Amino acid sequence: MKAISIHQFGGLEELTYSTQPKPQLNSGDVLVKTTAAGVNPIDWKTCSGGGASGFIDEMPFIPGWEFSGVIADAGDTDFEVGQAVFGMIRFPQPAGCYAEYIAAPAAQISRLPDAVDLITAGGFPTTSLTAWQALFDKGALKPGQKVLILGAAGGVGHLAVQLAKWAGAHVTGTASMHNHEFLATLGCEHTIDYHSQNITDHVSNIDLIIDCIGGETAIEALPCLTADGAIVTLPSITKDQVVAAGAAQRRRVETILCEPSAKQLSEIAQLVADEQLQLHTTETFPLDKAAEAFELSQSGHVCGKLILTMDSQN
Ligand SMILES: NC(=O)c1ccc[n+]([C@@H]2O[C@H](COP(=O)([O-])OP(=O)(O)OC[C@H]3O[C@@H](n4cnc5c(N)ncnc54)[C@H](OP(=O)(O)O)[C@@H]3O)[C@@H](O)[C@H]2O)c1
Repeated sequence: MKAISIHQFGGLEELTYSTQPKPQLNSGDVLVKTTAAGVNPIDWKTCSGGGASGFIDEMPFIPGWEFSGVIADAGDTDFEVGQAVFGMIRFPQPAGCYAEYIAAPAAQISRLPDAVDLITAGGFPTTSLTAWQALFDKGALKPGQKVLILGAAGGVGHLAVQLAKWAGAHVTGTASMHNHEFLATLGCEHTIDYHSQNITDHVSNIDLIIDCIGGETAIEALPCLTADGAIVTLPSITKDQVVAAGAAQRRRVETILCEPSAKQLSEIAQLVADEQLQLHTTETFPLDKAAEAFELSQSGHVCGKLILTMDSQN
């Protein structure tokens, strides 16, 4: 099968498109012929030696933790050959989704409703599960509450806006001015241009902040919270800094590590099928152009999501 891999941590030049052995199935795994794999910042962070690189024991390493595709071998599971599935798997252990075939734990994948297209489904799992777990598991969001989403136009942010609205919250988002119209179409009631406006001048009494940016941006937003409010901070690299600032200001800070969940993904897929949740795909790239997708993701200004698509000839 064709796959993207690295033989050592480093920059974009380490990404190689080559032939690799198909993965072996263990008990409880299915073999999936992939259709698409989503690109997330954790992918290039890990390839450069950060992110989840501490979990990698062997090279070559095939990046990618989310996929969509069709069951090619159901192994000893209840799935059937030909079923369309998608998922985020094994995170933070290596999962190898930038490949034409993957071995996926059946317990971590979901059947795709007919109404959802397979390529889009490859870009949903990580960002939607992160948004879901941040809003509902960590944030315990309730209808009528006020939510502030820092980085609302990005992969996680634009889904968090929609899920918060679906849950009956009032949503404010931060983004560059050129993305404000996009956020309004998602249901964002207030938008703040973080380049020219101070967050604290524009919002207060926020019940929950979903922080997709971290560092000083998160710390500057802490005074917006109500006394009982909470911030869920996503970027792991600055989480200790935000936790310390939260303790100093007596604000509740929650950290998060997104976990695979077939149950939550099924609920999310139904929202997509019902057109209550939409993934905005900025661009799709063929698998061999993964370096171009990484470069765009590294710019920090992707609106929505980037997706890799597979060559379906093998
Ligand atoms: N802990 C976990 O389990 C977990 C899970 C998923 C993601 N993450 C982390 O969460 C972060 C966000 O992930 P993502 O996939 O949403 O990233 P992304 O799609 O790459 O985010 C890009 C967005 O960030 C916005 N942005 C950049 N700087 C900003 C600022 N100062 N204020 C407001 N918006 C800003 C950009 O908006 P404009 O173009 O409008 O400026 C762009 O739309 C990453 O660090 C990722 O590694 C953590």
